Amino acid sequence: MTTINTPSNCSSSTKTQRLSLQCEQIDRDTTTIRSLDWDRSRFDIEFGLRNGTTYNSFLIRGAKTALVDTSHSKFHSDWFSILHKEIEPKAIDYLIVSHTEPDHSGLIGALIELNPEIEIIASKVAIKFLENQIHRPFRSKAVKSGEELDLGTNPVSQTAHRLEFISAPNLHWPDTIFSFDHGTSILYTCDAFGLHYCSNDVFDRDSRAIAADFRFYYDCLMGPNARSVLQALKRIDSLPSIKTIAVGHGPILREHLSLWLNNYREWSSKRSQGDKYAVVCYLSQYGYCDQLSQAIAHGVSKAETQVQLIDLQSTDAQELSAIIGEANAVVVPTWPSNLNIELQSSIGTLMAALNQKQWIAVYDAYGGNDEPIDVVVSQLQSLGQKEAFAPLRVKCEPDGNTYQQFEEAGTDLGQLLNRKKNIASIKSLDGDLMKALGRLSGGLYVVTASQGEGNGRRRSAMIASWISQASFQPPGLTVAVAKDRAIEAFLQVGDKFIINILREDNYKGLFRQFLKRFPPGADRFAGVGLLEDVATGGPVLIDALAFLSCTVKQRLETPDHWVIYAIVEQGNVADTEVKTAIHHRKVGSNY
Ligand SMILES: Cc1cc2nc3c(=O)[nH]c(=O)nc-3n(C[C@H](O)[C@H](O)[C@H](O)COP(=O)(O)O)c2cc1C
Repeated sequence: MTTINTPSNCSSSTKTQRLSLQCEQIDRDTTTIRSLDWDRSRFDIEFGLRNGTTYNSFLIRGAKTALVDTSHSKFHSDWFSILHKEIEPKAIDYLIVSHTEPDHSGLIGALIELNPEIEIIASKVAIKFLENQIHRPFRSKAVKSGEELDLGTNPVSQTAHRLEFISAPNLHWPDTIFSFDHGTSILYTCDAFGLHYCSNDVFDRDSRAIAADFRFYYDCLMGPNARSVLQALKRIDSLPSIKTIAVGHGPILREHLSLWLNNYREWSSKRSQGDKYAVVCYLSQYGYCDQLSQAIAHGVSKAETQVQLIDLQSTDAQELSAIIGEANAVVVPTWPSNLNIELQSSIGTLMAALNQKQWIAVYDAYGGNDEPIDVVVSQLQSLGQKEAFAPLRVKCEPDGNTYQQFEEAGTDLGQLLNRKKNIASIKSLDGDLMKALGRLSGGLYVVTASQGEGNGRRRSAMIASWISQASFQPPGLTVAVAKDRAIEAFLQVGDKFIINILREDNYKGLFRQFLKRFPPGADRFAGVGLLEDVATGGPVLIDALAFLSCTVKQRLETPDHWVIYAIVEQGNVADTEVKTAIHHRKVGSNY
């Protein structure tokens, strides 16, 4: 077994962007080239990247050789020099493109230049996308679920490598295919089952270390397509036993395979329940539309409402019409003025399928100055649709605040669809039991959090009373935060935040301020006296009695809240003579 490990000195490395490459054999005739992006910053691709990421590609050698995916273009020279050490690029027969998102397909053009004879194997939609992406002729073959590519038998290991393709649309791109190697029982899934986690561990050795990032990645990227996840799981259930899931991001899954598969099954089944759903439409090849739509969809699913992301460019007309027609809410992006014929027809199908009972909303996909958001809004208004939230405008390159605003708008929409159901389920609770539960009381606090810097800084706050000390050494506490709270996005493992303890003799002003109904992305601190630099994690309220600066260590999921366990690292009291404001309730069915 040959293993070449090339730590950071093999790569271009700057203080702000540490990049490195790793090349290791993972099974018979199968090698991974992992591009390690240690510092890929938050909001660069998703809305919560904490531990960098990796882009994994794989070389499979039977009698013929296939490469599964390439890498991000930022790894160009180092990636090719590692590839050259493994194989002469001209000797690669096939490039399997699991989907065409640039972080995996960024080097395809350069590879074709080195090997114009290479045959690209991908879904039909992916090949069409690639034609627009790489602007040079290439050999290709479109494959569907169940089709196979026989790489033949490796002359040394005598292993026959036969690849079977499984269509997995929307995971998370519309053009995704999985590939299963019958010779090694490795399933190549690219984005699905992945996680943004950069470490030198090639495999998922330490499941506890990566569990929070695995969940966060699922929630942001896969959860909004839970139905598609279930369909893909059904398809892979018919494969012979899978030994390894070779993901495109993060450690390769082998040691705890059933845990990860069961997680996907359980989370996706839960998200597919309920009769109401919202559709968030996007254009996968246009501007920031893909990421912005994800932020909205993630927000919708935070409110435990079903959501489906639909790519207008690649969804077939009949399917589009059925999904839109039955949706309870539809969120529509703006589109470029120079529409091609296919997109024109998709927009036509979309408009025709809308009905007046649905909630509707529009967001700017940001692709230049050619986006007529007001035109789209008035077109929809003329159809008599009810507006779920005000049009989301994007004036310049999206930053953390933009994604926060989009996520909050999505949550408002999810809450709108579930309002009646939630009221009914609270009414159905046992009255006596609720009165007894209501005798539990707590203090009154304002949780504040701030992340990012300069113009990209974003902040949030909420009134809380479900806070309790949970450990002495180190000092720790729990905060129960509803799953659909805006501030929940700031309370992931590793995040810092502040608890402001309110004073018994002066809490009403702050209480009123933070219980206002804020529109998506609004500054919750306008007009509030703040001490910005006293503690890390968020602003301290000038009128608070005391503050605690905390770091999130663990998150425990309950049906409707996350219980956040955090370590307290700093704290101070403004006036030791004053008592904490206490909150007494009558019933346990509200705070
Ligand atoms: C007295 C009181 C205590 C509250 N305690 C909590 C709490 O501990 N956890 C929580 O998630 N929400 C709690 N809430 C609800 C939120 O403070 C409030 O609904 C929220 O700020 C609305 O923000 P959102 O837009 O993020 O949903 C409480 C509300 C009140 C009135």
